[in-house]
Amino acid sequence: MTEILIRGRVLTFVDEPQHVDDTSALRYFEDGAVLVRNGKVAGFGHYSDVSKSMSGDGTSVDHRPNLIVPGFIDTHLHFPQTQAIASYGAQLLEWLNTYIFVEEQKFAEPEHASLIARRFMDELLSNGTTTAVAYCSVHPESVDAYFAAAQERGMLMIGGKVMMDRNAPEKLRDTPQQGYDETKRLIDKWHGRGRAHYAISPRFAITSTPEQMEVSRTLVLEHPECYVQTHLSENRDEIAFATSLYPQAKDYTDIYAQYGLLGRRTLLGHCIYLSEREVSVLAETGAVGVFCPTSNLFLGSGLFDRDRFDRAGARYSVATDVGAGTSFSMLETMDEAYKVLHLQGQRLSPLNSFYMMTLGNARALGLDDRIGSLHVGADADLVVLDSCAKPSMELRMQIASSLVEELFVMQTMGDDRCVAEVYVAGKARKHPVRRPQQQKRPEPLLRV
Ligand code: GUN
Ligand code: ZN
Repeated sequence: MTEILIRGRVLTFVDEPQHVDDTSALRYFEDGAVLVRNGKVAGFGHYSDVSKSMSGDGTSVDHRPNLIVPGFIDTHLHFPQTQAIASYGAQLLEWLNTYIFVEEQKFAEPEHASLIARRFMDELLSNGTTTAVAYCSVHPESVDAYFAAAQERGMLMIGGKVMMDRNAPEKLRDTPQQGYDETKRLIDKWHGRGRAHYAISPRFAITSTPEQMEVSRTLVLEHPECYVQTHLSENRDEIAFATSLYPQAKDYTDIYAQYGLLGRRTLLGHCIYLSEREVSVLAETGAVGVFCPTSNLFLGSGLFDRDRFDRAGARYSVATDVGAGTSFSMLETMDEAYKVLHLQGQRLSPLNSFYMMTLGNARALGLDDRIGSLHVGADADLVVLDSCAKPSMELRMQIASSLVEELFVMQTMGDDRCVAEVYVAGKARKHPVRRPQQQKRPEPLLRV
């Protein structure tokens, strides 16, 4: 048995906060502790109580005055786009063709896939993200690299090979049969192995023929235990193109509905320009709209209307969408989420931000029995946050007078520097940071 007592200020949510200082939705312990036994939470609460349950030979670590919260969860990003982040000047379709479909071809090479998968996981961890849902490339090797890197670090990760059989370069296309066979093999190999979960991943309606959408339907019927991830209604040109390819569909959402792809395990990236009818279809089916604020601003896509989702009773989650998203940090993501909502007269309270990054996203994934909150029996995925990590934050914190204010400072000013430590199934994973072997910049440094 391995046992570790992690001491610090402890914060976890038990429900969605209903207003800016709805402390009934959270549990907070000023001198708190989390007891971890064999990778699971065995107790949490006041240090003086929890420490009594420790057996004699456990270890303890003291993170005071830092704040311990459940590990962050990112519900949508693209692991093959790790190096294509910050690609200049284009909107969605041009950006995909100019940068992304070039970058993703490199993942035919298993060594490249493996190198980037390891860097990707380390980047998530150094930002405090312990679970994420990612698209891999069309190559099955990229999925192997992704889950192998997650397994090395003990992380609960969700992902799958994108299926694309049109409107993409030949080297990135599969066929309906190949998409089916490869997805099937990858599900058999990875789903349920350790902490891995598979996501059936037709990229979006533009890059899949009706035959491939039919195959996706079959995969979902054969594997209802798997997630489904795709993109919906991100950009006006995309919507026009997608609906022109499926003229029999009522609208973009109806394309996925017609192929049986909407359900409680379906994650739909973006969902910006939905009609009332489409939002109500999401509410009826339980499919999750994924709000990706840094991406939506970076690609000039538009503003996610959260209040409309709430009014309709539709489910949503929040995500980075790297590499259209500009940061791996969920803190930076919530900073942009706040601004996107503010522009529409909507409020995102700090409690709500921290709820969304943890329990809210866990609920969206149906994994709240295991991750996203501290409860006895939960997987011990934790992040330790330092709200004074930067001089400007330290100065700002000198006049902060409440936990809510501290959370808002972290959400607004924070990034990976605030992550003092991260625990995955009870193991510290932020340090030692794996340093890349060659730190040299590529030559020539500047080409003008
Ligand atoms: N739609 C289809 N593929 C992608 C992608 O890789 N990124 C984003 N932001 N939107 C997409
Ligand atoms: Zn995406």
